[in-house]
Amino acid sequence: MQTVKSASELGALHTRLNAARDPKRPLVTVCGGTGCQASGCMKVAEAVRDTLGGDPKLAGKIDFRVTGCHGFCERGPLVVVHPQGIFYQQVRPEDVDEIVRLSVVQGKPVERLLYRDEVSGKTFTRENEVPFYKNQQRLIFGMNGQIDPRSIDDYIAIGGYQALAKVLTQMKPEQVIDQIKKSGLRGRGGGGFPTGIKWETCRRAEGIRKFVICNADEGDPGAFMDRSLIEGNPHSVLEGMIIGAFAIGAREGWVYIRKEYPLACDVLRNAMAQAREYGFLGKGILGTAFDFDVRIRRGAGAFVCGESTALMASLEGRVGEPRAKYVHTVEKGLWNFPSNLNNVETWANVPLIINKGVEWYARIGTGDVTGDAWGGSKGTKIFSLVGKIRNTGLVEVPMGISLRQIIYDIGGGVPDGKRFKAVQTGGAVGGLHT
Ligand SMILES: Cc1cc2nc3c(=O)[nH]c(=O)nc-3n(C[C@H](O)[C@H](O)[C@H](O)COP(=O)(O)O)c2cc1C
Ligand code: FES
Repeated sequence: MQTVKSASELGALHTRLNAARDPKRPLVTVCGGTGCQASGCMKVAEAVRDTLGGDPKLAGKIDFRVTGCHGFCERGPLVVVHPQGIFYQQVRPEDVDEIVRLSVVQGKPVERLLYRDEVSGKTFTRENEVPFYKNQQRLIFGMNGQIDPRSIDDYIAIGGYQALAKVLTQMKPEQVIDQIKKSGLRGRGGGGFPTGIKWETCRRAEGIRKFVICNADEGDPGAFMDRSLIEGNPHSVLEGMIIGAFAIGAREGWVYIRKEYPLACDVLRNAMAQAREYGFLGKGILGTAFDFDVRIRRGAGAFVCGESTALMASLEGRVGEPRAKYVHTVEKGLWNFPSNLNNVETWANVPLIINKGVEWYARIGTGDVTGDAWGGSKGTKIFSLVGKIRNTGLVEVPMGISLRQIIYDIGGGVPDGKRFKAVQTGGAVGGLHT
């Protein structure tokens, strides 16, 4: 890997990578997220690799990729055959031969492995036709099923690190903060605080060192969206953090991630090493004077350590206890230096906003398109939809969607003809709605 020394070198690399990739070339993807691993996807992946490699007519002609979580973990292991996009669920290693023979070679679906909707009785061939996916807006999570999370080239090929290049070469830190304020992005960690305002306060705070921190503690029972985002698209989180660090004036970053997330830790570590090799982390990023690097601290899984001040205490090696809030962490945070902490998903929204523009982003969600950091709540949110519901998994929907749409249109409603009684939102400290 050669260091990318400028925005134009990144542009050239993006073009080169795409020129070498034929979108019509057959590709088999197997979901390798933690959920699918629990249902045996690595044996399926092995069977695909062996079947493709063992056939002289196919060897070297079919691409194969292990991706991150698609969100429909309950139906795993998931396999998708491209370019047709044939979507298979609950695949076992013994199904692979038939998938290769029929779908890869002849482009035909294996009917018995397609998703059948219990409500309508209909069978669907493509992922985006399945009601669980059709009613979502997968802006942040959608790339999870497409790219190999261990390949930085896959991320660059889909436009990765272009937002960083734009920010470093065309924008001043204050302009970046202004864009994030105008986008209406609010923190995804629960409090919903406007991200741009937090960044601005941290930028204005005085300190010889400043930190940006990614909160990947994810202690809420049943929640796994942050884990899946890091497992499936780690560079989107890193890119957001690097942009945030530039805007705030931080040179050091931390990801605080729970130790029970071994796959996410491993994928993230690999992504950081690759980003360093390309020069997106380290000294003189993209040939500019901006230096920034990130380290990982693994938390021991205490729920309270997801709270920002407890997290910082734990990160410093002290007991993870929250402190009084009248001293703000953006002014006195980690080791008493100004520290900007955001949730995993919040960071992952940043490249999207810079790439697509605030006008586009602010049209998604609630409130007027006013460019006001406090007005409404913009963008999408990934929810973990679990419990007594037909379709469980991770769903990404626009802010402001009704619970009815999530539970019935995406979740397929309550199974076995039972009556809907209540839904709990927001994890352990959330509310109960009847
Ligand atoms: C007890 C408690 C646990 C929390 N756990 C988490 C968590 O696991 N992940 C998270 O992002 N935020 C968690 N938060 C919220 C954080 O304190 C903080 O507000 C948030 O991470 C800020 O990032 P954001 O502005 O991007 O949302 C928790 C808060 C409390 C009070
Ligand atoms: S882990 Fe495969 S769909 Fe979630």
